[in-house]
Amino acid sequence: MRSPEIRQSFLDYFAQKGHTIVRSAPVIPADDPTLLFTNAGMNQFKDLFLGKGTRPYVRAADTQKCIRASGKHNDLEDVGRDTYHHTFFEMLGNWSFGDYYKHEAITWAWELLTTVWALPKDRLYATVYQDDDESFQIWVNQTDIDPEHVIRFGEKDNFWEMGETGPCGPCSEIHIDLTEDGSGRSLVNVGDYRVIELWNLVFIQYNRQSDGHLEPLPMKHVDTGMGFERVAAVLQGKGSNYDTDVFKPLFDRITEITGVVYGASMDDPLDIAMRVIADHARTLTFALSDGAMPSNEGRGYVLRRILRRALRYSKNLGYNEPILHQLVTTLADSMGEVFPELQKQQDTVRKIIKAEEESFIVTLDRGIEIFNDLIEKLRSAKGNTITGVDAFKLYDTYGFPFDLTRLMAADVGLRVDGEGFEHAMQEQKTRARTDRREKQQVEDNGTQWLWFSEVHRTSFSGYNQLEMPVVITGVKHARGKLLMVLEQTPFYAESGGQVGDSGWIESARYRFQVTDTVKDGDAIVHVITTLFDKILDTAVAPDDLTLESEERSAEASVDRHLRQDTERNHTATHLLHGALRRLLGPHVQQKGSFVNSERLRFDFSHFSRLTDEEILAVESEVNEQIRQSEAVLKHSDVPYDEAVAKGALAFFGDKYADLVRVVEIPGISIELCGGTHVDNIGRIGIVKIISESSVAAGVRRIEALTGKAAEKLLWKEYRELQQVRHILKAKGDEPVSGRIVELIEARKELEKQLQDGKIASLLSTLAAELHASSEIGGCRIMTKVVEEVDADTLRQAALALRELQPCSAALLCSVEDGKVSLVSFASDQAVRELGLDAGKLLREVAKCVQGGGGGKPEFATAGGKNPEGIPRAIELYTDSVNAALQG
Ligand code: ALA
Repeated sequence: MRSPEIRQSFLDYFAQKGHTIVRSAPVIPADDPTLLFTNAGMNQFKDLFLGKGTRPYVRAADTQKCIRASGKHNDLEDVGRDTYHHTFFEMLGNWSFGDYYKHEAITWAWELLTTVWALPKDRLYATVYQDDDESFQIWVNQTDIDPEHVIRFGEKDNFWEMGETGPCGPCSEIHIDLTEDGSGRSLVNVGDYRVIELWNLVFIQYNRQSDGHLEPLPMKHVDTGMGFERVAAVLQGKGSNYDTDVFKPLFDRITEITGVVYGASMDDPLDIAMRVIADHARTLTFALSDGAMPSNEGRGYVLRRILRRALRYSKNLGYNEPILHQLVTTLADSMGEVFPELQKQQDTVRKIIKAEEESFIVTLDRGIEIFNDLIEKLRSAKGNTITGVDAFKLYDTYGFPFDLTRLMAADVGLRVDGEGFEHAMQEQKTRARTDRREKQQVEDNGTQWLWFSEVHRTSFSGYNQLEMPVVITGVKHARGKLLMVLEQTPFYAESGGQVGDSGWIESARYRFQVTDTVKDGDAIVHVITTLFDKILDTAVAPDDLTLESEERSAEASVDRHLRQDTERNHTATHLLHGALRRLLGPHVQQKGSFVNSERLRFDFSHFSRLTDEEILAVESEVNEQIRQSEAVLKHSDVPYDEAVAKGALAFFGDKYADLVRVVEIPGISIELCGGTHVDNIGRIGIVKIISESSVAAGVRRIEALTGKAAEKLLWKEYRELQQVRHILKAKGDEPVSGRIVELIEARKELEKQLQDGKIASLLSTLAAELHASSEIGGCRIMTKVVEEVDADTLRQAALALRELQPCSAALLCSVEDGKVSLVSFASDQAVRELGLDAGKLLREVAKCVQGGGGGKPEFATAGGKNPEGIPRAIELYTDSVNAALQG
């Protein structure tokens, strides 16, 4: 069976068992600070497991794009070395949300594997959690597996957790024995490529808290995950995932590029390198197609390291040019049908990867230099071991895999401290984990919700109304704030880059001031920072409100001015997006946005700085559209596929439901968007772009103002300019910038003249003194302290002075604002014939003024901090010159 058929037959099997087939979520989790990458099929359902969200189905199945290269599930270092780990892979999964449980999960998995796919039963093993008797019995009594093939394991192997916190539970895994003679029983769960895990059935029933304890969940769920590439290898009778049709197009292309052919043997260094390149090209292409960018922190940094690891290995193939970007099209062609984002994004992704590869190749050469320096230092210190810290630095900063450092070291007869390397690596992981924990603690803030109703969800009515009667369904204290959930609300919760609404909720007794609104699963949470007791006529601290006595009905009103200003900015981002695409090209795609009542920020893919003309063209087009006053149409509940077919732009990396909202400005823009917008673009008033900058390679950022904020800015700038014109006494509309440039030039000229004058006058004083100074051994020696002369004037005067007497040497000192400047010179003759060295003399005497500096035998300068030391400096100078000339 070819891999597309395998994928399809999995989905068909579960569709026929009543499962809704859903789209893979992006590999970049939309709203989960605990994860850098989607690492399992269940991630997109986390809110359901935790009892916070709902879906219109209770059974689902999909193929999920996963990346396991960071955090709890990290396979990065295994990739290449073995034949069945990947940083990117597809996970086939089926789920029950409080619906069926262990019986169906186990018997269906067995049926699919052994009946539909006809895998040999005597080659399959089932593992169960040590005290999960129920699963054990189901395997033994309700399937025809050999009872000897059901084995119990402990928490390490049979208790699955999503991350440091979150949904988890005991699991039952199915392993396959690929040994020649079927003798693999003892190899189950020992990490041997001949007996590998195919499918994991997790029985989710707990939520791991950040303090480590397990909180039982309100309902029990099933979460399964099967490695698609592994099952493809098994069904295609291949000994390795990399031998399947999933990887073939990639290897063919790598061969075409490098001339190296895959398939010598598992341990062959060229084969290892090719596996790394193929795997990492997939991870990068999928991650970037979902909107991620390489960078120096978090997720972007993991991607950067993956790219570097691949490039380092490609050197082993004797190929030193950027290679990964050349595989993007191969992937778009071979997998684009299942994952259309690969095709849509391929031009942008290829360019980003190429730019990143080019810049790394320079870094890599630098890494090799650093490695060579290390070796040299070690040799001169007669050492024979590269420290763990140095090996880790090469790994972390220059992308050298540890193995490679070891090989390169072995080539020159040295060792690497492997334990020290592990230690440095662990330290970095601990740091990363602490960061994640801290982030998460912002979410878990102690007190429990007090619910007045069974239903923990809020319906949003704020597209059409800003004021309405509401019912309070839940409240919670949170560090000086009060969080409140309503049954129905006009407040927009922060999402899609638009800030949450502010405003008021008013009950008969209290007036609550809402300063932010956020989503929590299906609930909309109103953040209240101040509240006022109308009966007692006094402010109440949010922490002091007695929740039980809370009256439940209230009036909610959104701050209309802030909301409308925010809407102007939001609709303006759609106009800018459209204009940028028309003027720069369809490679322009939204990479992020932020809108509040004050301004808007819009990030998009594009590869060069926008010129002033381009910015002006974008702004003029948008403002012309605003003057045309088109209506903004909002269509709710449009099927996702229909919207995309109509040309609606989706923000790659966002998670979309099956029914989406479409915001259309006829003839100008059509986008999937859940945000709030003006009803007519004329209401935006005006758009003024205030900055254009770079956020990452290939991503530009525009910031702009609209409406009142733009008007205020224009007025402020206009007034400023009027004042300038007034000061310059400019006439009519005469341009004033030229006049300002002239004034600046004239001032520079005057300053120069002033400086020349100062130098000339200092020089004439010094020249007279030099002429009159005493001669030692035919050389005029002078020391002099001048008052309040800056370092540059002193230096210039000294340079001219040096030319006046054929044989002379001098130390000049000045003090300005408590800072000492010293200049020492010796004329050519004094250097040549008498061996004086102005630089050496200065270095000695500079210490007297707590200073440092230096120069050549002919001329040297220094600065110092201690004017008191000047007499001592002069004394020392005179002594040293005397000694040099008489000695
Ligand atoms: N969530 C489970 C896993 O990733 C199925 O293994």
